[in-house]
This record gives sequence, C-alpha cells and structure tokens, in this order.
Amino acid sequence: MTIISPSILSCDFSKLAEEVKLTAKAGAEYLHVDVMDGMFVPNLTIGPCVVSAIRPHADIVFDLHLMINEPIRYIAEFKKAGADIITVHEEACSDVTETLKAIRALGCKAGLSIKPKTDPEKLRPYLPYCDMILIMTVEPGFGGQSYIHAATENIRAAAKMIKEGGYDIPIEVDGGITNETIKEAAAAGATIFVAGSAVYKKPDIARAIWELRENAAI
Ligand code: DX5
Ligand code: ZN
Repeated sequence: MTIISPSILSCDFSKLAEEVKLTAKAGAEYLHVDVMDGMFVPNLTIGPCVVSAIRPHADIVFDLHLMINEPIRYIAEFKKAGADIITVHEEACSDVTETLKAIRALGCKAGLSIKPKTDPEKLRPYLPYCDMILIMTVEPGFGGQSYIHAATENIRAAAKMIKEGGYDIPIEVDGGITNETIKEAAAAGATIFVAGSAVYKKPDIARAIWELRENAAI
C-alpha cells in the first residue's frame, strides 16, 4: 500500500492549523513533522509544543522525524504531544537499541533513519526493534533539495536486508520526492513517501497527493 506523508516543513507556518486540516482532507495518510535541533542538522524547527497545538486539527497519523542528537531525551514529550510514529537517526543515538525500545514502550511505532552517506548495513542489527526504516534521499536539514540518486541504492539494500531477515518493515523515503523521483524510490522498495515541496508548493494539494500516489504505482 502506498502512503503519502506530506512534510509540513514546506507549508505556510502562519496558517499551520489550516494547512494540517487541509492535508488530512486531501487524503494523506500520514503527516510528517521534521524536528531539528541545530546540532545534528544545521536548522531549527518544531518542538513538542507545536506538535500538541496542531494535533487536534487532524485525525491523521503523526509521523515524527527527529533530527536531533540523543533523541531518547525527548521521546516521552513527543509521545505526549501526539506522536504515532517516532523516527530517530542511527547517527544521532549513542544507544540505538535502547532508543527504539523506549519508543515502543511508549506505545509509538519506532522508525530508524540513515543519511544518504551512511552504510545501510548499519541498519541490520536494529531491524528486530524497528517498525519502519527511513531512507534519506537528501542531506537532512532543509526542504526543497534535489533527490540524491545514489541513495536509491540504500533503499534497495534496506529492502533486501528486510526480506532476507524475514521482517515485515515498511521503507519510508524522504527528500526530493517529486512525480518523477517517486517512481525510482518505489521501484527500489519504498512504500511510504515524504513530500514537502511536491505537496505544499503546488496550487492544489489534494491533486498533488493524488498525482504522487499514481506515480508511485507506475
Ligand atoms: C529534510 C526533511 C524532509 C523535507 C522534505 O531534512 O527531513 O522531510 O522537509 O522536503 P522536500 O520534499 O521538499 O525535499
Ligand atoms: Zn523528514
């Protein structure tokens, strides 16, 4: 099943509640929230208080992408704010297993992400603790960047690893997803697609989401 997870990083922050409402109405399954700490990535974005403010505006899966160092420090706060899925970076955790276990213990789904240059083999030991894998196809930090084609190989490697291990873990892809690049990511094994610019920079977000879904199926 194809899932579209619009990244609110590209929406109009002065109308956040309206944008979130519109996103759910437009047929998106997930809402992708990019949390950045100015340390793991060179940008600052959203904290738990913003997540809890927008949570009541949409009955949709809140898909949180934590681009912060030692995210275990904040997962309980994000759960309280309304997170359904919490994804952390392999590169940002001193104890990945403990972090993933703690996310599950809170009742959230646990996602694990790697940046484009990280060896996908790093994911292998943690698959038993993962409910989702997030493959970054841009360097994390900013919306509106171009898809890094070399990272498609990471999607393929993760898909192979998951299959070989007999796991049932969906692969999410994030960064530079367009009506074109989504085909490449889908063919490599991704089923959950984050899209910021390709949704919110379009005049009709419902149509944009529909088009992405159609292209993922090609
Ligand atoms: C980048 C973020 C992405 C970003 C995607 O660090 O994780 O979620 O907002 O934006 P687009 O789709 O514009 O590349
Ligand atoms: Zn993201």
